[in-house]
Amino acid sequence: MHTRAMVLPDTDSRIDLTVPTLEAHVPDYESDIERILISSEEIQDCIRRFGEQITADYKGEDSLLLVGVLKGAFVVMADLARHIRLPLEFDFMAVSSYGMATKTSGVVRILKDLEHEIEGRNVLLVEDIVDSGLTLSYLLRNLRTRRPKSLEVCALMQKTEVQQVPLDIKYRGFEIPPVFVVGYGLDFGERFRNLPYVALLKPEAYEGAIT
Ligand code: IMP
Repeated sequence: MHTRAMVLPDTDSRIDLTVPTLEAHVPDYESDIERILISSEEIQDCIRRFGEQITADYKGEDSLLLVGVLKGAFVVMADLARHIRLPLEFDFMAVSSYGMATKTSGVVRILKDLEHEIEGRNVLLVEDIVDSGLTLSYLLRNLRTRRPKSLEVCALMQKTEVQQVPLDIKYRGFEIPPVFVVGYGLDFGERFRNLPYVALLKPEAYEGAIT
């Protein structure tokens, strides 16, 4: 459930009514959405704070390379980049995803590798969500062998209680329960990525899923 503040016009004593609303955004998705877990305002606030922190941390350094993990992170990356007030370069990696499943198989495959050499460079890996942590830990191990000057992680969400490997996430957004979520880049069977918020699906929406 999302809340929207309504301000009544033409009065000095403005009344702030907080009215719960469900932002459908994509009418065709509405019947599949159970509720909103993180509103677009909360996400934007978090991304703006990440941007300020990253700008301060890398000021005076050689240019920063943002590495997005496709496909999910393209939305976080696009918004985050516009809040980082430093010269930036971009690259992407693609790894095998859940497809029509809602749990990780633990097997990580690189489907698309970086176009840049990262030796001696400051690299910031941008992730949408960390679940078991297997994908991230594999990627970090892989990227470290290429000897970057620095390698840090920015992840919008991390699921609690499910992490299987210890991870050091420097810029961490929301801790969420171990539930399957969609929106803001995250999909279920390639749907829902363009929702501006993060939501839970109704159980019926998972029918046919491999878990
Ligand atoms: P991990 O290896 O278990 O940490 O899974 C990480 C990847 O799985 C993320 O980058 C997402 O692509 C995907 N993923 C994990 N949890 C979710 C979810 O709740 N919804 C959609 N995709 C997810």
